Amino acid sequence: MTVHRRGITKNSESSAIEKKIKRGNAQRQASSWKDNVTIPIMILLATGLVSWMYYTWTDDRIQTLVSRGELLTQARVFTVDCSEDYKKYKVFPGCTPTKCGRAVSDIVVTLEEAQKLRRLAEQGLSLAGSDGGASILDLHSGALSMGKQFVNVYRYFKDQIRDVFTEEDFQLYSDVRGRIQMAIAETFGLDSSQMYLTKPTFFSGINSSSAKTTHDEYWHPHIDKETYGSFDYTSLLYLSDYGVDFGGGRFVFMDSSSNKTVEPRAGRVSFFSSGSENLHHVEKVTWGTRFAITVSFTCDPDYAIDNPSLP
Ligand SMILES: *[C@@H]1O[C@H](CO)[C@@H](O)[C@H](O)[C@H]1NC(C)=O
Ligand SMILES: *[C@@H]1O[C@H](CO)[C@@H](O)[C@H](O)[C@H]1NC(C)=O
Repeated sequence: MTVHRRGITKNSESSAIEKKIKRGNAQRQASSWKDNVTIPIMILLATGLVSWMYYTWTDDRIQTLVSRGELLTQARVFTVDCSEDYKKYKVFPGCTPTKCGRAVSDIVVTLEEAQKLRRLAEQGLSLAGSDGGASILDLHSGALSMGKQFVNVYRYFKDQIRDVFTEEDFQLYSDVRGRIQMAIAETFGLDSSQMYLTKPTFFSGINSSSAKTTHDEYWHPHIDKETYGSFDYTSLLYLSDYGVDFGGGRFVFMDSSSNKTVEPRAGRVSFFSSGSENLHHVEKVTWGTRFAITVSFTCDPDYAIDNPSLP
């Protein structure tokens, strides 16, 4: 009996305890259910807030087309509608842009070639250089930035120039130029024999010194075909790395919807049709030196130039 009574007592006690436990479990379940939902909502709100602050407090919307850290194993192509610009000029079938856009490739030029060309750029530009942070050396015309103006390296340094540049260097430049031309032809469906090298085509070295003349103001948005009527395709071969060799200096395509950047990487080639569908600018370099080569092409044989060569 005692046992039975105790049993009953125990039973009623234990059921009371069980109820408590069940209630506790239910509360815990309810609160963990809330936690499970609250945390993702909080994260969502926080991300939303951060991106809102990002878009509000940075003046432009930036989309990275290709980052420095990526190594493209094939060309990355972005097509855009061609502007009307080409209609103002004579049309050369097989060359005049009918398909427009931008592309980036890391397989046209090897890193080794880029390093050689970079040494060439460094040596050439070290002969003088602009006071204002943006120095150029045009191997074709011989124009080299010096202080607030330009000199002709071939005339200024005469035979000494052969201590700086060799036939082999010029051969490398020609090979690279030929491969870039093929890549452009392939991407835009052109006959590469109808494309010609045009001027200016130059090495550039940009550092953070402030501009002294308008020649140093490389960061203004511009359209290559407006600046140089002869241009139909523009290409850039980067010789140094964004974020490693220099800060700032990203290439920016400025579309009405957003700005799209290409981050320089040694050996990376970026090319695009030169009309107003490709309005662009280069960000100001904040530290280090940004080396690149601009190689431009025309469809008009009247504006063709030969590969640069030692005089
Ligand atoms: C692109 O960048 C420029 C210059 O930084 C800025 O003025 C412009 O508003 C940006 N465009 C967009 C769509 O954010
Ligand atoms: C930038 O380059 C020019 C020309 O080579 C040089 O005179 C100047 O000192 C450099 N500026 C910086 C900040 O390195």
